[in-house]
Amino acid sequence: MQPTIETPRLIIRELLPEDKDGIFEMDSDPEVHRYIHQSPIKTMQEAVDAITFIRQQYADNGIGRWAVLDKTTNEFLGWTGFKLMTDAANGHINHYDFGYRLKRSAWGKGIASESGIASLEYGLKTLRLNPIFAMTDVGNVVSRHILEKLGFRFVEVFNYDGPLAWGTPPDRLVTWYELPSERHQTPTQ
Ligand SMILES: CC(C)(COP(=O)(O)OP(=O)(O)OC[C@H]1O[C@@H](n2cnc3c(N)ncnc32)[C@H](O)[C@@H]1OP(=O)(O)O)[C@@H](O)C(=O)NCCC(=O)NCCS
Repeated sequence: MQPTIETPRLIIRELLPEDKDGIFEMDSDPEVHRYIHQSPIKTMQEAVDAITFIRQQYADNGIGRWAVLDKTTNEFLGWTGFKLMTDAANGHINHYDFGYRLKRSAWGKGIASESGIASLEYGLKTLRLNPIFAMTDVGNVVSRHILEKLGFRFVEVFNYDGPLAWGTPPDRLVTWYELPSERHQTPTQ
């Protein structure tokens, strides 16, 4: 079962079939895909398939990205959270990838930060996920800034040669971030 997490402005919960309109608005926008290099989707069926894909990860891996909604209006804003990486990335496998994606109308309001802090906290303290890494295109300065604000440490730039499911073609330079080991410790440890 996936969690429901509340922040001052947001609800974070499992992705549901009813989120398809929001996913379509987000993932059909070329600007959203600028640094993730997936082709924008063109049909509602692709939005439905994206939700099915993530819900299958809940069943198979116990975790997958979570929906971010406006607490007041219930509007779908995007997704945040973790994906168990079962394909190797930068020499690592079976780790938790942390990421976020929002529809464009939600940008620039601190939503990725607010949802990211809360989901990361939940992943660390409640789910005790370990290890957690993140990766983003070298040019995605906003995403890199958020990762660093959330406590991720830049490790290196690498040439991503993984599967296209994450989105980056083989010739793209990608930054690799780790969550320092001290973030995995509770105050009593
Ligand atoms: C990346 C994304 C999630 C950011 O969402 P957001 O809600 O606008 O981000 P926030 O408002 O929480 O934070 C943005 C931060 O970047 C900072 N920022 C904005 N422009 C910047 C720039 N050019 N250089 C450096 N930092 C910048 C902001 O000041 C803010 O930092 P602060 O809170 O310390 O002031 C959103 O733009 C998005 O969905 N993009 C498309 C998908 C994507 O690239 N996902 C990440 C792939 S790994």
